[in-house]
Order: sequence, then C-alpha cells, then structure tokens
Amino acid sequence: VTLTPEMKAGVLAEALPYIRRFRGKVVVVKYGGAVFAAAGAGQAGASAGDDLDGSPAADPESAARTSFAEDIVLMRAVGMLPVVVHGGGPQIGALMARLGKVPEFRDGLRVTDAETLEIARMVLVGKVNREIVGAINVHGPIAVGLSGEDAGLITAGPLDPLLGYVGDVVAVDPSIIHKLVATIGADAAGQAYNINADTVAGAVAEALEAEKLVFLTDVEGVRRDVGDPASLLQTISAEELDELADEGAVGSGMIPKARACASAVRHGVASAHVLDGRLVHVLLLEIFTPEGVGTMVTLP
Ligand SMILES: Nc1ncnc2c1ncn2[C@@H]1O[C@H](COP(=O)(O)OP(=O)(O)OP(=O)(O)O)[C@@H](O)[C@H]1O
Ligand SMILES: [Mg+2]
Repeated sequence: VTLTPEMKAGVLAEALPYIRRFRGKVVVVKYGGAVFAAAGAGQAGASAGDDLDGSPAADPESAARTSFAEDIVLMRAVGMLPVVVHGGGPQIGALMARLGKVPEFRDGLRVTDAETLEIARMVLVGKVNREIVGAINVHGPIAVGLSGEDAGLITAGPLDPLLGYVGDVVAVDPSIIHKLVATIGADAAGQAYNINADTVAGAVAEALEAEKLVFLTDVEGVRRDVGDPASLLQTISAEELDELADEGAVGSGMIPKARACASAVRHGVASAHVLDGRLVHVLLLEIFTPEGVGTMVTLP
C-alpha cells in the first residue's frame, strides 16, 4: 500500500490523542521467545547466504523484529515508559540440545534441575536479553537489560517440587526503573528460579500500575477454538477468559498469558492484549490507532 502525503499526515494527526493519553504511562510488553526465535532464524538464513538480496525487509520475520525495536524507541520518544519482559523457551531448548540434555515439560512448564537452571540463566540473561537490548539500542540508546535477580527486582519461590527450580513470583520491587527484565528470580536466600515470562510480565505490570499489558506472540490472538483461526476473540472479559482456561479451550503457552491478562485488568491495569508479534509495527497499530488488533481483555 502506498500512502499519499495527505494520508500520512492524517495518520499522524490521528495519533495525537493516543500520544497525549499515554505520556508518562508504563506499558509492559512481553516479547515471546517464539517470535524472537523465528525472527532470529530468518536473519541467520539471510547471513548464511540463502537470500543474497540481503534486504532485511525481504524477510517478514526479521522485518517484524526490527519494527519491534523501532516501536519501543518510538513509544519512549513520545513519552511512554515501555518495559519489555522476554522469554526464551526455544533458545533454552536449542542450547540444551547442543549439550545433549532432553527437555522435559509438565503442563507446559519446563522441569528445571540445577543444570537446566544454569542453562536457562545463561541463555536468558547472557544471550536473549543482550540481543534484545542490542536490537533496541541500534534505533535509540534507551534500553537497559536487567534480570529479576538484579536489585531485588523479583522475589521468587518454588512453584511445585516436581518441577525443580521452577519459580513463581512472590513479590516485585518496582523501585528500580527498568526497561528489560530477564525472567530469573531469586528467593530471600539467593536461590535462583526459572519463572514463566508471561507470569513475570503480568506481575511487573501490576506492580508498576501499568496502563497496558501487551503480549506479542506467534498467533494472532486468543482463539475460542485453538485449531480455528476464524474463532479469534477480538474482545473478551477477564471472567470469560478464565472460564476458557478452566475448560481447557485455552491451552499450553496461552494459559499463563490468559491468567496474566485476567489478573492485570482486575488489579488496575487499564487494558491487556494478546497480539501477533510477527506483524510489522503491531505495537503502533494497537497503541496509536482506533483499530482493534488481536485480543483485548476487559473487565466484565
Ligand atoms: N485458545 C488459544 N488461542 C490461541 N493460541 C493458543 C490457544 N491455546 C493454546 N495456544 C497456543 O499458545 C501458543 C503461544 O504461546 P507460546 O508459549 O508458544 O509462545 P510465547 O509465550 O509467545 O513464546 P515463549 O514461551 O517462548 O516466550 C500459540 O502458538 C498456540 O499454539
Ligand atoms: Mg510462552
């Protein structure tokens, strides 16, 4: 689509009320490891010489990754306080495979022994976090990377003894202004835990009294029927979403997002969304236009 100059000016003018409304407000964005991994794979393919044309825009997934970084910088430039929380499931799985360890999941959560915890921490804090900070800082030097272990940011506790060092969020200390949070938390004795990134994003949004909580993932939103793209739910109340999760209609990786969205809107976050992180500039679409994208979770 080619926009005329008049149309471009119209789009900017339309954004003004949203810029005003979100100035000074915290927006928590959870960047799904699945989206990030897909984008990274695209880039690796290009650098390996499959795509000699070399233009990043030719690859929709790395275009989405670049646009994610641009959107975060733009949000900050117009006065929002974006906080990015990331996962890294596929990247942890890849390093485990290289080290000859077989990942084990129970109800969608990674069984985490001491060695897996060490790998998860290396990948999340040392690799994924650095790559996201680097990608954003190419567009504007605003990103700082933190782990939940830093400055007492996230206090964790064990979730279920059968899962090993899988943790839940006990408390968030929001006194440190942060841009990026890798999802390792520690308990009072300093023991580290591997916590689901969706759960962390929700807890951080609540603790920071965020205006918005946004999940960027690899599906266009929450579906009533997971196998049917036409069953996308454009809006759903926290109550209905919890019911879908109880019934099992919301499964696997969508469960912690659904629970986090429902809890966030009940605890003062004005809106919670699940969006397709593979779409270029999906954050700008959601924040600065009246058009709805993905799924919006509301109070009943
Ligand atoms: N009702 C549903 N609607 C939409 N997706 C669903 C539903 N139930 C289960 N899913 C699954 O949830 C997945 C998204 O969660 P997933 O954990 O895989 O990604 P992520 O959280 O973005 O990435 P990561 O866990 O690596 O950070 C979808 O790809 C889809 O297969
Ligand atoms: Mg997930």
